[in-house]
Amino acid sequence: MQNSAPRFAVIGGTGLNTWADLNIERYQTVTTPFGEPSAPLAHGTLHGARVVFLPRHGQGHKLPPHLINYRANLDALKQAGVSAVIGVAAVGAIADWFVPGEIALPDDLIDYTWGRAHSYADGRPEAGVQHVEMTQPYHPELRARLIQAAAQAGVPFAGNGVMAVTQGPRLETAAEIRRLKRDGADMVGMTGMPEASLAAELGLQYASLAVSVNWGAGVKGLGDIHAEIEQSINKGMAKVRAVLAALAKL
Ligand code: HPA
Repeated sequence: MQNSAPRFAVIGGTGLNTWADLNIERYQTVTTPFGEPSAPLAHGTLHGARVVFLPRHGQGHKLPPHLINYRANLDALKQAGVSAVIGVAAVGAIADWFVPGEIALPDDLIDYTWGRAHSYADGRPEAGVQHVEMTQPYHPELRARLIQAAAQAGVPFAGNGVMAVTQGPRLETAAEIRRLKRDGADMVGMTGMPEASLAAELGLQYASLAVSVNWGAGVKGLGDIHAEIEQSINKGMAKVRAVLAALAKL
């Protein structure tokens, strides 16, 4: 048990910066050629399964989305022997069906980020050139396991959806949200990329568990987005935790 590979890793985002369900056994400080990950990796057990947790925004939620060292985070998880990564993401809802407090398992994404260190192919001679496939940015097998886990946990969720990933840290304008909707996006977050493509470059299975925490700017009028987030985030994260617990038991 002690030396078995972790069953999966969770990168926790806003609302899941600490994960009380995980029975933490040790912290691992990992150094990478790309710098420091957001935090030491927390190794522990969840219903007997070995699981690794990494708070994406660092301890105390101090890193904004555009300053997260995504390359170091994924490289550290790979070094720890992880092969499947679930990125939990609080998102704004664009589609009418994605009511705040609900969760979804997106099946595609559109990347609007810029200026992030987004590839391991960075000119180092040993890095080479890799044109990683992104036809299905979220791994179908890992998505299937999460769908099964949600069913076991009795948690209703949307089994697909297109995630737009914006640069942040500011929220969008109403016109930007209308444009994302025309582009085909159902939800919008700030951290899904380059997390997904870096995982693909490393050959890691990656899926996103998205929690709707607010209506995107202007989708339902001119509401107070921060108040919406406060109202719905705990409800959504409780569902995420139930799905992850069920995943550990599969
Ligand atoms: N936009 C972008 N990212 C987000 C939002 C949003 O409305 N809510 C939570 N993360």
